[in-house]
Amino acid sequence: MSLIHDTSTAIQALNQLNIFGLAAMICDTSGVVQLLNSAAAALFQQEPGYLEGQSVHEFEALAPLSKMIKDDTPQITPQKLQLFDHLYCLVRMQKIGRLGFLFIFDDISDLKAREDDQLATLNLVMHDLKAPLTAIKGNADLVQNSGPLNEKQQKYLDRLMRSVHIMDGMVRDILDMAWLDAEEPLVVEPINLTRLVQNAIDVLGSIAEEQQISIEYQLPDVLPDLEGDYRRLERVVVNLLANAIKYTEKGGKVSVQLWQEENQQIIRVSDTGIGIPSEYLPHIFKRFYRVPNQDKRTEGSGLGLAIVHTVVERHHGTIEVESEPGKGSTFTVRLPLRHTFAD
Ligand SMILES: Nc1ncnc2c1ncn2[C@@H]1O[C@H](COP(=O)(O)OP(=O)(O)O)[C@@H](O)[C@H]1O
Ligand SMILES: [Mg+2]
Repeated sequence: MSLIHDTSTAIQALNQLNIFGLAAMICDTSGVVQLLNSAAAALFQQEPGYLEGQSVHEFEALAPLSKMIKDDTPQITPQKLQLFDHLYCLVRMQKIGRLGFLFIFDDISDLKAREDDQLATLNLVMHDLKAPLTAIKGNADLVQNSGPLNEKQQKYLDRLMRSVHIMDGMVRDILDMAWLDAEEPLVVEPINLTRLVQNAIDVLGSIAEEQQISIEYQLPDVLPDLEGDYRRLERVVVNLLANAIKYTEKGGKVSVQLWQEENQQIIRVSDTGIGIPSEYLPHIFKRFYRVPNQDKRTEGSGLGLAIVHTVVERHHGTIEVESEPGKGSTFTVRLPLRHTFAD
């Protein structure tokens, strides 16, 4: 539905948006730029005449808009896009009947630059934290192996190790998130998921044991190699397993399955834990999101599942979750054996 029916109303509308300082542009249904107001021309640092007649499907500096049209992005959801070399903006798109599409642009270049700075600083700090953390872990191991400890000493050492483990997880999450944000390419090689899943289970075995949680697993001995980024996919499994353990009460069970179906390999991590109420399920893969009032174990960054989701997506796979409060949760990751990783 639209109030803009013809070209003259469109021109009027763009001029009015201009008065409010809003940069706006209209493309026809085939993506050819028809009109832009002077706020948009100023934002793009281009002459309006130069852009009119260009197709967003062919003109590289406007290509992100092409994707928006093709994806038919839900109309109210603004997208953060880079246009030209110099511009980051928030773009809203509205279908306007037979005229095509109306785009409205908000310049967020300053905000983006600030965010990049913050992320870079955070990244540096996290890198710097890694060395002392490793030293603490190493020395705690030395204490553990330096002879019999009395009960109190063992208790304090266990506590220390738990805190180190939590901190280590948070540092890794933030580094992983920064890595994903930088859109660095995956390191793709043939990998054996049985070995990868087994490793992840080994990494978390002692923590599960400490919480008196048993990990059951069924891993096929022979499984064809899958093309993927070993390090990143290992973080996927570690994150899912760590959650399963964290959100399950003492005495509970976690199970891991791995199998192949046609040209996909499927990893399933289930737990008998506290579960997630259905109203929160749509949000759990968002950054920093944590389900409220899950009284057990408050520590965490809320980044784990966002990382899992992005890594799976970049492998052209899918992730699904089923959960019932009080009964448990099941996360299922499907990964294609092979894919072109051109992007
Ligand atoms: N296996 C699970 N059982 C119950 N809740 C879970 C499970 N996995 C994830 N969640 C919920 O989803 C939220 C997001 O998970 P995640 O991104 O890993 O963050 P974090 O573990 O740091 O809180 C968690 O805070 C938790 O509320
Ligand atoms: Mg987590």
